[in-house]
Amino acid sequence: MADAEEIQDAARFHVEVAHHSEPFFLKGCNHLDWGIKNRLANIFDPTSGRTVMLAFDHGYFQGPTRGLERIDLDIVPLTRYADTLMLTRGILRTSIPPSYTRGIVLRASGGPSILKELSNEQIAISIEEAIRLNAAAMAVQVFIGGEYESQSIHNLTRLVDAGNRYGIATLAVTAVGRELTRDARYIRLATRICAELGATYVKTYYVPGFETVTAACPVPIVIAGGKKQPEMDALRMAYNAVQQGASGVDMGRNIFQADNPAAMIQAVRKVVHDNATPQEAFDLLQQLKG
Ligand code: R5P
Repeated sequence: MADAEEIQDAARFHVEVAHHSEPFFLKGCNHLDWGIKNRLANIFDPTSGRTVMLAFDHGYFQGPTRGLERIDLDIVPLTRYADTLMLTRGILRTSIPPSYTRGIVLRASGGPSILKELSNEQIAISIEEAIRLNAAAMAVQVFIGGEYESQSIHNLTRLVDAGNRYGIATLAVTAVGRELTRDARYIRLATRICAELGATYVKTYYVPGFETVTAACPVPIVIAGGKKQPEMDALRMAYNAVQQGASGVDMGRNIFQADNPAAMIQAVRKVVHDNATPQEAFDLLQQLKG
């Protein structure tokens, strides 16, 4: 019980100072409730407004991809450099220490393996399970133009409804089938549809004309790393993306398949958080490797 005697009169009301209410730092997110904003602030760095997501959920349809054979040995040491981890619940439970305190982005759709039609995904997690695992966001693949386009959109909207109910963000991941042209026109279409249908943020591919993609999308966009490229090319892509409005990267193979993944993720951070040029980041990479 607080002591009820000798209570002093409250006096510090600062009546001349208007009440301060800070706008939230992420595009299109000001209307969200406190809990979802707090989770987003554990995915995106509030200082730079950007994120380096370390993506290693590839096993959900590819099995043990190169670089992901041993999550405990190869990925766990990298987690200290990531703003957030994108992974499946199986890997989270078995391999990631619960002392990890940054945001968790859970893979929330799945079904077909690489041996089947990939767009035929279903929701692969319940909202209770996402809450139990303390997820900051749930990631769902959306196949605009794909054979199962409507089904994947339905997966997105169901997860948005469930996530909004409990304050968990939904990341829409635009997947581009081989038959589709990966250009700004298509990426604008896919990202805008995801935002219109309620995604909290969107992941897509970097393409020339990317500034029109970010301009037309009212929520934050992060870029996927895509297949392994020479380090300088990956750093240049990350640089161009953030300079053209991306709120960060969700990078997997270009980090965990690099010859020195710990050095590469630190170089990527330099580009994303410090606006370093690709050359400055590459110099850091060489220095860290040395
Ligand atoms: C696809 O398998 C996943 O959504 C990956 O997390 C995503 O593609 C990012 O990984 P990467 O940089 O290897 O493309």
